Parts: sequence; C-alpha cells; structure tokens
Amino acid sequence: NKHIISIPELSRDELALIVATAGELKARPNPTLLKNKVIASCFFEASTRTRLSFETAIQRLGGSVIGFPDGGNTSSGKKGETLADSVRVISSYVDGFVMRHPKEGAARLASEFSEGVPVVNGGDGANQHPTQTLLDLFSIYETQGRLDNLNIAMVGDLKYGRTVHSLTQALSKFEGNRFFYIAPDALAMPEHLLDELTAAGHPYSLHSSITDVVPELDVLYMTRVQKERFDESEYAHIKAAFILNAAMLRDAKPNMKVMHPLPRVDEITVDVDKTPHAYYFEQAENGVYAREALLALVLNEQVEGVAQ
Ligand code: CP
Repeated sequence: NKHIISIPELSRDELALIVATAGELKARPNPTLLKNKVIASCFFEASTRTRLSFETAIQRLGGSVIGFPDGGNTSSGKKGETLADSVRVISSYVDGFVMRHPKEGAARLASEFSEGVPVVNGGDGANQHPTQTLLDLFSIYETQGRLDNLNIAMVGDLKYGRTVHSLTQALSKFEGNRFFYIAPDALAMPEHLLDELTAAGHPYSLHSSITDVVPELDVLYMTRVQKERFDESEYAHIKAAFILNAAMLRDAKPNMKVMHPLPRVDEITVDVDKTPHAYYFEQAENGVYAREALLALVLNEQVEGVAQ
C-alpha cells in the first residue's frame, strides 16, 4: 500500500502506469474491482470535481464511500478534535482515505496517523494537488499520444496555483518537454521550481502574452487569476493579457488543446468552448478514470490488460 501525497514522490514509471491503467479502465469498465472496499472521502475544503469524481470512481468500481462533503462542518473537528485523532479513527473503518484540507502538509500528517491505510491527497493548501496532475497527464496522453517532447504553456496564477506546480514536476520527469510560463509579475512561477527544471535539463521561458506563444504549443494550460489580488487598473491590464478568447487561438496547431483544472471564472471566454481546442470538460470527466486507476493501484488491485 502506498500514500499519494505529492508528485515528486512518484516515479516516471509509476506516473506512466497510472496513465495506462486509466486508459484501460476508461475503455473497459470494471464494476467489481473495489468490491467490499470502503473508502473515506473527507473534504475539509470546498470541491466539486475532486470529491465527486473520486466518489464516482469508487462506486463505478463497486466500492463504498463514507465521509463528509461539507468542509468538515459536521465532523468532530468542530468540537476541537485534532486532525491526527480524526484520521486515526476514520482509518480504522476503511481501506483507503481521500482527503482535501486547507493546510499545507495536512495529507502528509494524515499519512503518519492512518495506521497503514493509504492516504490520497485531494489538495493541501497551495502545496500539491497530485490527483489533478494524474488526470492532466492522462488527458495530455489521450490527446497528444505522448508525455514527452511537448510544448506546454501554463497561464495565470503560477505562484499560488498548486495544479501548475504539480504538473510541472510531473512533466519534468519525461524527456524533451519545453515549458512556457505566462503570468503577471506578482504571480510568477516560484524560483525553486524553475531551478528544478534547469537541473533536470528542461528549457523554459517566461512571457507576458498568450498569443505570442500559441503557434508553438501542444497544450495551453489555463488557471484562474484571482481578481482580488489586484487593484482595478492593474486588473484591466491583466484581463487583456491573461484571459483567453477564441480569436487568440487563430494560429494554434490543429491538435493544440486548451486545458484548465476548473472551476473557471472568467479566464476562458465561452466562445472557446465551441472550438476544437477546448478540452477542459473532457479533462474533468477524465478525473473519474484517473482516480479509478489510482485507487486500484494503491489498494493493490490488479487491472487486466496493464503490465505492472
Ligand atoms: N480541479 C479541482 O480541484 O476542482 P474542485 O476544486 O472542484 O475539486
């Protein structure tokens, strides 16, 4: 059994195995793989996609779910119980534990108190969102047929965005990927992640306009820029440079895909939805298959058709 806490702890081969397993489970559903397994789904922070796709994945594989969907408002954390005690108790009821928590490091702490029950991090503060990255990798593989030699741009809040941090770390484990970062100065990619790319031999470049790089891209990964981080005049400038509309995709390669972890607010205008480049809703659906694959693998269930 293995905890899934952060992307750097997964090897290239493990990432490739999860992607292959997700493809297999998408092509050939397996309604009994998690029969008699009970999984806790404990979300101490708001979620639509992560929670519901995990719970769908568990039920589609024949398992059962317990947990609380309400930010922990009905849990005994409200009476002052420590997270460590809650995890120790819940783990004694289940075979696996999925958790989202607003505090960085909460998933790691949970893994130390889960008595060997695998813990899956559904997002911890601004730190990591590894299962989002797994569905992103699956979506990239599904659309591009490879996870190497890709040109990928990441746009928006690259400073606080846990999805772009995890995705950068995952794609840097594969060969020949080139990264384009497009963010307001105040929300630039953290230096330590850029240093990791350099150390791994991956080229990257920083840009202030999406259209400048669109023709080179295989994947354009958008994220939300929070309006409240800027004053009104600054935001008017940011809106022009970092909000994607269909006209900005005119020079894109035919198979270039726009992805977004969602929820979007206004950083992708709805006219993009009708272009052949939009892939964010399919990407969200892929969350079910990537999470099915992950649960099967952490619970040591063999998926037919996938070499382990
Ligand atoms: N992408 C993502 O994590 O969405 P939710 O916050 O709705 O789970």
